Amino acid sequence: MRKTTLLALGLLLTGIVKMADAQTTITVDTRKPGAPIQPTMYGIFFEDINYGADGGLYAEMIKNRSFEFPQRLMGWNSFGLVEVRNDGPFERNPHYVRLTWPGHDHKHTGLENEGFFGVSVKHDETYRFSVWARTPAMASNNRESIRIELVGADSEVLTRANLTIDSKEWKKYQVEMKAPRTDAKARLRLFLTSKGSLDLEHISLFPTDTWKQRENGLRKDLAQALYELKPGVFRFPGGCIVEGTDLKTRYDWKKSVGPVENRPLNENRWQYTFPHRFFPDYYQSYGMGFYEYFLLSEDLGAEPLPIVSVGLACQFQNGCCEAHVAVGELQDYIQDALDLIEFANGDASTKWGKVRADMGHPAPFNLKFIGVGNEQWGPEYPERLEPFMKAIRAKYPTIRIIGSSGPGSEGKDFDFLWPEMKRLKVDLVDEHFYRPESWFLAQGARYDNYDRKGPKVFAGEYACHPKNRKNNFESALMEAAFMTGLERNADIVHMATYAPLFAHVEGWQWRPDLIWFDNLRSVKSINYYVQQLYGHYPGTHVLKTLSGKLPLTGQNGLFASSVLDKTKNKLILKIANTNDTARTVNYIFTGLKAAERPATCIRMTSPDLDWENTLDEPAKVIPVEKALKMTGNTFQTELPAQSFTVIIIDL
Ligand code: AHR
Repeated sequence: MRKTTLLALGLLLTGIVKMADAQTTITVDTRKPGAPIQPTMYGIFFEDINYGADGGLYAEMIKNRSFEFPQRLMGWNSFGLVEVRNDGPFERNPHYVRLTWPGHDHKHTGLENEGFFGVSVKHDETYRFSVWARTPAMASNNRESIRIELVGADSEVLTRANLTIDSKEWKKYQVEMKAPRTDAKARLRLFLTSKGSLDLEHISLFPTDTWKQRENGLRKDLAQALYELKPGVFRFPGGCIVEGTDLKTRYDWKKSVGPVENRPLNENRWQYTFPHRFFPDYYQSYGMGFYEYFLLSEDLGAEPLPIVSVGLACQFQNGCCEAHVAVGELQDYIQDALDLIEFANGDASTKWGKVRADMGHPAPFNLKFIGVGNEQWGPEYPERLEPFMKAIRAKYPTIRIIGSSGPGSEGKDFDFLWPEMKRLKVDLVDEHFYRPESWFLAQGARYDNYDRKGPKVFAGEYACHPKNRKNNFESALMEAAFMTGLERNADIVHMATYAPLFAHVEGWQWRPDLIWFDNLRSVKSINYYVQQLYGHYPGTHVLKTLSGKLPLTGQNGLFASSVLDKTKNKLILKIANTNDTARTVNYIFTGLKAAERPATCIRMTSPDLDWENTLDEPAKVIPVEKALKMTGNTFQTELPAQSFTVIIIDL
């Protein structure tokens, strides 16, 4: 009998403890809004990795359009009499092809392009074919012609068009074609249809329906996905491609502006990186160059944030010295950084401001930030950064400079570089962390004790890397939980950008990534939706949010932050429950008058931590919205197991 009573008592006590455990009280102090949240807080990191630019966001459909790949006809099939020549009209892209009649009506001369994993066309969409051409001097009547065909995967001709080339001088010709059906693996084919010979250069095919209908435009669904993130900052062009495999292949922004036909080819740093995911045809056309990046930042309403080379080629891929520019010989690199600021902000009377104006944007882009160096480390970095800083500070004192803390989230390089960045007085320090779930769970309080007097933080590349490196729900939940810590520390964390951004399902080197695509479709990962929730509800001021005396940085598996949006007059609560059981949370809002207030609850949960959104199931896990009503100045909510919740209360 006694035993039973004790057992019952024990069970009751356990129950009480469990209940106590399962209920958490959170106090949000609405009386004194804390640090302002920077408009740049949540942004985008862009790099041409995983075919993110050529073959991705950049809507050009022809691979090796200027015949500048080292294997001049890579991506092309040629038949009949096709000769590659090198005295073309574009100085930095001198190669072109000469097509000559093979001398018999039953023979053909022409070319066929395979595109990027296919020339993919959509039913009823219009495509603009363009080419630079001339009839070579020896032609008698100065009129030659070509037939252009879109050929389906089944070898059926989908549509065709004809062009007459009527000048001995190089001229641009174009024609539009409508696809009668969708074909993911079509090809572009050209035939010489006259009996002489003609020269072709910069053979290009774009959908006419690009983002903002621009001619040298971006793929609409992908650019739209970026727009829907509401990013505050747009970092470009990387990543390691800033540095290059060697100095020769670093990203050289000056080559990426001006007429697109004359932007030279650059080998992509990701071409050779992973032998098991090797794409020997991965080059940067620079068709989407710095002008396009600035324009996109403007379209997105995000602050542009270019990163320039500090004169160190990728330190992962190189030993010392031969891949480094000597400290005393950095002048050209420093000049590139200064000229970039002039390109973005100078008026049309300046050399580089004029280049921008001539490209169609007379108004400045109002650049405020520049990053010098990507993932650098060791003493060789600060000694090179220093002369850049001196020159930029002297000429452009209001530009805010970003330095690097190396490739690791902590450790020797990190511990060396942070004090160095403080010594040099950079404005922000770029931190990178690609880490497993356990790291994200343990780092909720990462920034709570950072020195408030030093530089601010730019979490410039981060993502949770689960063992299987998938964009699964678990990784997204870890990021959501961790980001509450960024938000609570918005006085010091001024920018955060997930990385990498894009990946082509047939051409990726690195995962996880925020947005996946093939040539016809795209899918927003679960991680994307987490970024989007932060991007849409960033608030304007941090609110003190405590459980007992402490912020919730992982105690009992909970992570929380709250912000006020002064402009929209809203209170925004974010909370992640990383437990495998539900939790009840009681919010108390100090300083808020009891009243009935409409609210919205947006929640992400998944029955399986390993679920991910795919091209075929793009909405497997998405945020679900529900209207609520808050009465009084308290609020109780049940957090499902493994969930991320955003509650927006109308004040
Ligand atoms: O985001 C992929 C790569 O990760 C970046 O290029 C580099 O900066 C980091 O190592």
